[in-house]
Amino acid sequence: MGVPGPALAHCRVVDHVEITAPGLLLRPWRVADADAVLDALREPAIARWNPARGAGDDLAGATDWVRRRADWSGGDHVSLAVTSAADGSLLGSVSLHQIRGEDASIGYWTVAAARGAGVASRAVVALTAWAFAELRLHRIELCHAVANPASCRVAERAGYRAEGTLREAYRYGDGRRHDEHLHARLSTDG
Ligand SMILES: CC(C)(COP(=O)(O)OP(=O)(O)OC[C@H]1O[C@@H](n2cnc3c(N)ncnc32)[C@H](O)[C@@H]1OP(=O)(O)O)[C@@H](O)C(=O)NCCC(=O)NCCS
Repeated sequence: MGVPGPALAHCRVVDHVEITAPGLLLRPWRVADADAVLDALREPAIARWNPARGAGDDLAGATDWVRRRADWSGGDHVSLAVTSAADGSLLGSVSLHQIRGEDASIGYWTVAAARGAGVASRAVVALTAWAFAELRLHRIELCHAVANPASCRVAERAGYRAEGTLREAYRYGDGRRHDEHLHARLSTDG
């Protein structure tokens, strides 16, 4: 990969990484993932809660999405495909974004067929632990629409404490601005 940007310049790990979690391998995105990504981004719940601004329109859009996620050279994000450790199939996405100094935000989705099995929770726990240990982050924020209780459970299960409600804070894929819950986890949290 290219030279790291300023946000990661102080970090030991600046190149692509793979992270393991029980039953999962979190690995960098590949262009070969584009077909599966297109299916995922078109799935109604992901299209609603993780709007990708045209990436779900066609294979070219999905390929561009994968390429941007695979390029960490800007130093402001760490984006990983969540795959099955058993057979390598794509189960979801987890990413740190808006990395600035000791702060970042985290986002995720799980393909419909893999939901309800702890995939997102385990992926968030694993990437969070890696980010505190390797990127030396102090605070990671997690926002989700109040109307998305499954995502709230992921936040709780991954140790992200609720900090409040942000009114009409983000325009989601349904075109509406939704209230969001702000959660965060500190490196010093138990
Ligand atoms: C939210 C999402 C990522 C969860 O992924 P997942 O791999 O199924 O998550 P987990 O299995 O780790 O945990 C899901 C939790 O939500 C709960 N849940 C699922 N549907 C729910 C609902 N409608 N209401 C309340 N809780 C719900 C599950 O019971 C589980 O909690 P539990 O373990 O305490 O029972 C997945 O549903 C998804 O991709 N949704 C569409 C996109 C999205 O919402 N992305 C997040 C944007 S912030």
